[in-house]
Amino acid sequence: MTAYQLLHDPLLDSVLLASDEIEDICQDLGGRITRDYTGHDLVLVTVLRGGLVFLADLCRRIDLPVTLDFMAISSYSSGAAVRITKDLDDAITRRDVLVVEDIVDTGLTLNYLLGVLKSRNPASLGVCALLDRDARRLADIPIAYRGLKMPDRFVVGYGLDLGGRYRNLPYIATVRDEVMG
Ligand code: IMP
Repeated sequence: MTAYQLLHDPLLDSVLLASDEIEDICQDLGGRITRDYTGHDLVLVTVLRGGLVFLADLCRRIDLPVTLDFMAISSYSSGAAVRITKDLDDAITRRDVLVVEDIVDTGLTLNYLLGVLKSRNPASLGVCALLDRDARRLADIPIAYRGLKMPDRFVVGYGLDLGGRYRNLPYIATVRDEVMG
């Protein structure tokens, strides 16, 4: 299925970020991260599965010998508590850690994750988020590298899903309000 056909999916509304805009953001953030972490032992940590596509592009815009590691988490139905279903493979003690996230919404997931990572004594701990939707923010998250501050709309594509689908869209699209209820 082509991107053109997917955009004409009746569930999708309009394009929030086109592929070339995402590319520009990755280029910009990658350049800043390269400058800031030169001479450091940087590990990029991503939360599966949503952050995977952004990480793949961003890491190739960072001109440093970084390592990559992954976590997976699941939320309880209340949304308030989270548990780790896949932990990092490597230790992060005394290393510089940058968490690469697709979107920060309430911030509860990241708040929990940052607490877990901090307890392992990294040299530093930062956040790089492609999308920042702060309308429903409940936890104060310091986002050092932000792609776009976005309106309060549910989005899919470029790693973000609706019921597991749409992650492979090469752009980010808003979902029609009627679909989200
Ligand atoms: P938070 O804990 O409320 O900040 O939720 C963050 C996670 O919820 C993200 O990493 C996504 O996996 C998911 N999420 C939040 N908003 C959206 C969206 O608009 N589309 C798809 N997934 C979303």
